[in-house]
Amino acid sequence: MNVAEAWAEAARAVPRERFVPAVALLGVLPGSPTSWIDRDLDPEGWWRAVRSNAAIAVQLDDGVLDIEDKPAAPFAVATSSCSAPSLVFSMLDLLSADKGDVVLEIGTGTGWTAGLLAARLGPDNVVSVEIDPAVAARARSNLRSVGLAPSVIVGDGALGHPERAPYDRVHVTCGVTRIPYEWVRQSKPGGVIVLPWMPGWQTGHVARLTVVDGVATGRFHGPSGFMLMRAQRPPEVPITGEPRESVSTLDPHDFASAPEGLALTIAGLLPDVRGRAAAHSDGTLHVAVRHGDSHALAVFPPDAPEADVTQRGPRDLWDELEDAVHRWNAWNRPGPDRFGLTVTPDGQYVWLDSPDTPVRT
Ligand SMILES: C[S@@+](CC[C@H](N)C(=O)[O-])C[C@H]1O[C@@H](n2cnc3c(N)ncnc32)[C@H](O)[C@@H]1O
Repeated sequence: MNVAEAWAEAARAVPRERFVPAVALLGVLPGSPTSWIDRDLDPEGWWRAVRSNAAIAVQLDDGVLDIEDKPAAPFAVATSSCSAPSLVFSMLDLLSADKGDVVLEIGTGTGWTAGLLAARLGPDNVVSVEIDPAVAARARSNLRSVGLAPSVIVGDGALGHPERAPYDRVHVTCGVTRIPYEWVRQSKPGGVIVLPWMPGWQTGHVARLTVVDGVATGRFHGPSGFMLMRAQRPPEVPITGEPRESVSTLDPHDFASAPEGLALTIAGLLPDVRGRAAAHSDGTLHVAVRHGDSHALAVFPPDAPEADVTQRGPRDLWDELEDAVHRWNAWNRPGPDRFGLTVTPDGQYVWLDSPDTPVRT
């Protein structure tokens, strides 16, 4: 049986419908359209959602709002989900786990991914860590319903699970900005870590790292958006400080089309800086950049090449961003296939072409 057949068999043994609760929310990303699904009120709609390729939120605001009440809370944040099937299977493919491998999963959620891994590798070879006790309890019960009982541990996945280390594979299904070194420490030599890296600029990137001599290195494999690991959510810092006005001549198309190579350049040069570009209904393009109490906002009018920029706080974030864009242009706009990520005991860095050439020197 080839790998695709093996995963198809696992998917048949672990059907998604066993992992989606009766009431849930279709669509999870902030700003994306969402709609309630309810198995009792609209069974057809519920099945359509389960069979679709959409992520389905199963918890809001860390469980403070009960999702079964279908809270009318437009600002509620989805904090646990059954991930989008195409992303689940593409990440499992990248993991390239095989019979006999022991896998640590971080972020059990509904337990669907843990179930697929358990069906393929055997439940004794899968350990999944979930921070939320109620989510973990439901995942265990979902898994029991398909006759599987991999180890579901309640704890902070950033610490891994040293009791069962070393692992052949670490599979991460919550977004991380800073990759905990524990995952590298708890991997076998030659072990593989697959994770959604979410450095903060637009969307995230799936990274596949291989561990050699205590260092994890690898490349990016396409965009991904995942819920951030709890402790890595950016703190809400109020915007204060006197505004500093200027004009930007950056090409707004660089932001509107958000090429992944530029996003990786920015992530590598400006670690922990968050940013978003959003088109407004009046035709303007807003680009916001943030780090701690530093903030910058550029507003590009529809047909004018220049944007009005307002910067606040100790850092001139817009100037730093412009510098990053100029560097990406000077490198002839490399695409995401030329970038990679390395994690050492001292931290992490983005590189271009080779781990010996970090983008930030
Ligand atoms: C996108 S969901 C995981 C989807 C899941 N793999 C599935 O198949 O349904 C992300 C999960 O990560 C969990 N999480 C967040 N921070 C965590 C942490 N520090 N340690 C472990 N789990 C965490 C959330 O509670 C949430 O359930």
